[in-house]
Amino acid sequence: MSVFNDAIKNFLSPIEDLLSDDSISEIMINGPYEIFIEKSGKIIRTDYRFKNNENLMSAMRAIAQAVGKKFDSDEPRLDANLPDGSRIAAVLSPISTNGTAVSIRKFFKEKVLLKDLIAWGAISKDAARFLDICIYLGKNMLVSGGTGSGKTTLLNILASRISNNERIIIIEDTKEMKLEDQHVVHMITRKEDPTQNIKGITTQDLLHSAMRLRPDRIIVGEVRSGEALDLVNAMNTGHDGSMGTVHANNPDEACLRLETLCLQSGTKIPPNSLKLMIANALQVVVQTKRFSDGKRRVSHVSEVLGVNDDGSYRLEHIFEWTQKSKNDETGELIGELAPCQYLPTFFDQIKVNKLPFPSSKFERPDWVKKLKKAA
Ligand SMILES: Nc1ncnc2c1ncn2[C@@H]1O[C@H](COP(=O)(O)OP(=O)(O)OP(=O)(O)O)[C@@H](O)[C@H]1O
Ligand SMILES: [Mg+2]
Repeated sequence: MSVFNDAIKNFLSPIEDLLSDDSISEIMINGPYEIFIEKSGKIIRTDYRFKNNENLMSAMRAIAQAVGKKFDSDEPRLDANLPDGSRIAAVLSPISTNGTAVSIRKFFKEKVLLKDLIAWGAISKDAARFLDICIYLGKNMLVSGGTGSGKTTLLNILASRISNNERIIIIEDTKEMKLEDQHVVHMITRKEDPTQNIKGITTQDLLHSAMRLRPDRIIVGEVRSGEALDLVNAMNTGHDGSMGTVHANNPDEACLRLETLCLQSGTKIPPNSLKLMIANALQVVVQTKRFSDGKRRVSHVSEVLGVNDDGSYRLEHIFEWTQKSKNDETGELIGELAPCQYLPTFFDQIKVNKLPFPSSKFERPDWVKKLKKAA
């Protein structure tokens, strides 16, 4: 178990098999006697268990200690990275009522590339090339999706396509993004710890610093609070090609979610102006989704166009995942991230820059037309 040092190996021996199995992407512990795993997109209950809650707590404390954090009644929540980059989150009982709750998110050992997503059917070749073009053209993008839908993975892939001579500033709560050989400053927020006289540093604080560090692009790993307004401001003030992720179920909701988060900053900007600011800042929303067959795919690539009279955001889907059929044996959904017969407003930039992506790539395929007609 290379992930952990010898001192904590013992504590984790009850789940050693799960930790060393690379085909398991997540281990979820609901108290000592209930351990679930995610394997090939499926959530499976296992027979693995800790002896009792005390043992489970000790294991988590040992991990916390190994990464220089605390996990006790004063600090009953743990968010940390393990030495191999896995992400661990834990909540101590009795805050978590059925015993200490833990989630260990393991990431792919190998760096995931756009071509891997294509090979897994998580994105179509053309949509992938289109996103690549959006990065090249410096479009401001938001990756939206539910919990564990693959947002961070996709954000990382998109960021890795940014050219080497652009200065990228990444802000995260726990270090999940990995960029190699790029011009990157990576900043991590810090929790307040009054007992140690340690002041908290928020994403918003780091965004303020980032603006002074001459960034070309700013990337916020997860936009989850009032810092949304700073990101929108950054996007509107020349930091083209900035990106972030939000929790939302579709591209429309992503814009609304960003608006709600902006309001959490306590801003006095009138609602209509705020909406216009957001619609102006954001150009493309990429929606990720974990489908009913357990597979993670990009479900939409949409352009943000403006605000309607009723205050809703005006979006057009450029690509939308459409189901063709289903594999009866495996339960796998069969479909494609198909173009929606919509030409993005920045198509002229694609042409002017001589990027090999003709307008025909945006035409809706006949099979989708037929399906839409039948519906
Ligand atoms: N297209 C994909 N196919 C299969 N597995 C994937 C895919 N994308 C991501 N994963 C895996 O799914 C898990 C969740 O991915 P990721 O952390 O990117 O999701 P997230 O939406 O950012 O989650 P969270 O909401 O917790 O921030 C990880 O184990 C990751 O390696
Ligand atoms: Mg994430």
